[in-house]
Amino acid sequence: MKKIIVLTGAGISAESGIKTFRDNDGLWENHRVEDVASIDGWYKNPELVLNFYNERRHQLETTQPNAAHLALSKLESLYDVTIITQNVDNLHERGGSSQIVHLHGELTKATSTGNANWVRDIGYKEINIGDCDEQGYQLRPFIVWFGEAVPEFEKAAKITATADILLIIGTSLLVYPAAGLMHYASPHCAKYLIDPKAVPQDNVSNLTVIRKNAGEGVPLLVEELLNKVKQ
Ligand code: OAD
Repeated sequence: MKKIIVLTGAGISAESGIKTFRDNDGLWENHRVEDVASIDGWYKNPELVLNFYNERRHQLETTQPNAAHLALSKLESLYDVTIITQNVDNLHERGGSSQIVHLHGELTKATSTGNANWVRDIGYKEINIGDCDEQGYQLRPFIVWFGEAVPEFEKAAKITATADILLIIGTSLLVYPAAGLMHYASPHCAKYLIDPKAVPQDNVSNLTVIRKNAGEGVPLLVEELLNKVKQ
């Protein structure tokens, strides 16, 4: 089976109703990204940050995967597929995909401020000030914030290097190290970039740019890729 690696960003979840980061005048759900998605923001106002992610978790509970998430899961019938996502939602999982690397963490998990290895599923429950691990450390969202290392990056880079086909969907490619992942793919790997505002990447070989919303562009490309194997 050929390997397809899919790199996704906020744009793939936009048609499910989750706002992207940079399509709204620099505000994310009415907050400055640095206030709610940076380690400095957490130190300054942990309650604001907890409330913000409690709201995001609450919103996710009633949000559904869209045509793009669902189409990607269909690729698994004929390809070995791994999704590397910058998104903290669980819409790829709920859309039926089975191999997913979350580069920036997961909304439905909590970690401890005193022990980064302490990670628990919390589903859609809140985290509040005073919620602690067994050793008394305050819990926080399991999210990689600006100013923090990206522990899954090395694994993601190794996986990307194995791609026969690379799909890049709904990301502004502005946040590193995630934005540099595509450069780990081989020059021979066929690459597709799907984003209504995609800009050509001069230094990336074998790249097809598809300027469409994910909900339209991804199902069309998935059908094309499935047909290639069936022929
Ligand atoms: P951005 O908000 O930077 O970019 C979203 C991209 O999605 C843009 O290129 C849009 O053109 C595109 N887009 C919008 N609607 C779309 C649709 N219907 N279909 C396809 N594409 C669409 O989001 P990311 O690139 O994911 O990190 O941002 C990267 C990281 O920055 C995030 O993971 C987050 C953020 O700060 C952390 O929170 C650590």
